[in-house]
Amino acid sequence: MSRQVIQSANIYFSPTGTTRKIIRSIATGLALRPREMDITLPAAREQHFNLEKEELLVAAFPVYGGRLPKLALEVFQNLPPGRRPAVAVVVYGNRAYEDALLELFDLCQKKGYYVVGAGAFIGEHSYSHVMGRGRPDPADEESARCFGLALRHSLLGNDRVLSDKTLLTTARRPYRKYMAKSVISPETSRKCVSCLVCVKNCPAGAFINSDPKNIDREKCILCAACIKFCPEKAKSFNDDDFTDDMAALAAANLDRKEPVTYLP
Ligand SMILES: Cc1cc2nc3c(=O)[nH]c(=O)nc-3n(C[C@H](O)[C@H](O)[C@H](O)COP(=O)(O)O)c2cc1C
Repeated sequence: MSRQVIQSANIYFSPTGTTRKIIRSIATGLALRPREMDITLPAAREQHFNLEKEELLVAAFPVYGGRLPKLALEVFQNLPPGRRPAVAVVVYGNRAYEDALLELFDLCQKKGYYVVGAGAFIGEHSYSHVMGRGRPDPADEESARCFGLALRHSLLGNDRVLSDKTLLTTARRPYRKYMAKSVISPETSRKCVSCLVCVKNCPAGAFINSDPKNIDREKCILCAACIKFCPEKAKSFNDDDFTDDMAALAAANLDRKEPVTYLP
């Protein structure tokens, strides 16, 4: 490859697993030696992140309220600066990705990384089994694989870098405000058998004393991992306003959105 890229560092945050599926499909198409850096759980975010010379950074995050999850900033702070190629990827729940992809592009640039490709993919919405139901599906995974392959060819063939102009057609700076912090948190029904799957999969370490029925509302990021992974279906958001809002959001976003990718 013209840039001598032989390995990719695939860093991702994926509470309910859709972002993980997308980055893995991209990695298949890229066909570089992959190094997975799964930063979903708190312990993984405490480690020091090194990036090797001649390594392509592929960073993937879910979209939260049209932005990146706040912890993306923390993670980028811990990445070493320097000139290296990077790929920005976001995964959203079939509503909209808004400023999230531009934000990730900007985070890369601030580190000195030059963005060689970007993409927005669709995953089943964390709060719904209707919005983006079952996605990424095989067609999405194939799109992600093809994107990886196109990136590989692009890296091989030229030295071009993606401009933010393409992303600014759908996003803006300053970015939209973060979603207001909701006062709700998942509730636990009597079906809970204390198997601790929720505790083990909580990206925020929000269970007090590892008790599956005791969630620290301040820490909870409302990612819905505990709801989606509970084998007993014992967790849910029971707040009526929240449930109504989600039903309305789902009704307004039934149309299937397709992945969008950007190459220089
Ligand atoms: C707090 C929160 C906010 C979200 N905001 C959006 C949004 O603005 N637009 C959208 O389409 N999906 C949104 N989603 C859905 C996720 O982006 C989507 O389900 C994604 O696939 C989750 O990734 P994961 O499976 O890797 O956790 C939101 C989810 C959560 C938990």
